[in-house]
Amino acid sequence: MKTLRIGKLKLKNPLVLAPMVDVTDLPYRLLCRRAGAGLAFTEMVYIDAALHENAKTKNMMKTCREDSPLGLQITGDRIEEFERFVSREELWKDYDLIDLNCGCPSLRVARKSGAGSFLMNEPEKIGHVIRILKKTGKPVTVKVRLGFDKNNVLEVARIVELAGADALTVHARLATGGGRVRADWDWFSKIKEVVKIPVIGNGDIVDGASTKEVLKICDGAMIARAAIGDPLIFSRVRDYLETGKEGEVDFKKNLELFKEYISLQREYFGDGVDLSKVKYVGGRFLKKMKGAVRMREEFHKLKRLKDVEEFVESFK
Ligand SMILES: Cc1cc2nc3c(=O)[nH]c(=O)nc-3n(C[C@H](O)[C@H](O)[C@H](O)COP(=O)(O)O)c2cc1C
Repeated sequence: MKTLRIGKLKLKNPLVLAPMVDVTDLPYRLLCRRAGAGLAFTEMVYIDAALHENAKTKNMMKTCREDSPLGLQITGDRIEEFERFVSREELWKDYDLIDLNCGCPSLRVARKSGAGSFLMNEPEKIGHVIRILKKTGKPVTVKVRLGFDKNNVLEVARIVELAGADALTVHARLATGGGRVRADWDWFSKIKEVVKIPVIGNGDIVDGASTKEVLKICDGAMIARAAIGDPLIFSRVRDYLETGKEGEVDFKKNLELFKEYISLQREYFGDGVDLSKVKYVGGRFLKKMKGAVRMREEFHKLKRLKDVEEFVESFK
């Protein structure tokens, strides 16, 4: 299997768990790592929320020794906030790298605050932010789309490299294109022609075959939606890359992981657990289990973490 290096980091494999708000918290990352993911990212954190250290953001930034290598993903639009962030070492010292989100399409993030994918409209600002983040001495990566509403990914890729970033992740869609449009992987090779830093491909990678296809061009493959409720996708993909054979979805193991997920939520967040998040991710675990329609209906009615714990304990 290919190895992926990002600055001074050498990853055990090129399989990357994508940053996903409401999914990739510490418990979920641990499950995906145990299944074989070589790198993971936090959920996207607003830089102003990180600076104010509110309780929700602190939970999003929570990590532990086993949770490595880990990228802290941040976004924002005010240069002065990035400077303040860098000056506060306690905010970034626990992470292996810092990732700048230039891909979030949410209207609130992009249009109102000028952060996320809106940064694609301001390539020079992306370069400026990278140069600031590099002052931490950590590897810096950037996650982009093909553009905001028009494709300018080659221009952005050049600027990202010139500013000193250590890798570039490309979600191969425009921000305004909507999730249903197929990711356009042709752009991966065009990007590889203009930059030398590692390129991590993202968008519509769902199994061993699609991962292999992307890794023919890119240095890493990032999986998002296909990993929700199915952390074992990483072990199946790894097996496929090593042997050419991909196992079936293992419902029994998935059930064990679902239980493990709930118990990790209790361990790390206790009574501060975000139940709507647990129910979203839990519902996805159940969705990927055969014949679980009724179980899912019951599950969504639960009101407390304790009810969720009893629910998973009753599984046979
Ligand atoms: C529930 C959800 C939350 C997401 N949150 C983030 C995020 O916090 N940061 C980010 O860069 N992308 C985020 N994304 C986008 C994914 O990281 C990824 O780029 C996108 O889903 C395409 O990959 P896929 O086709 O493998 O799903 C999110 C996607 C989903 C489905």
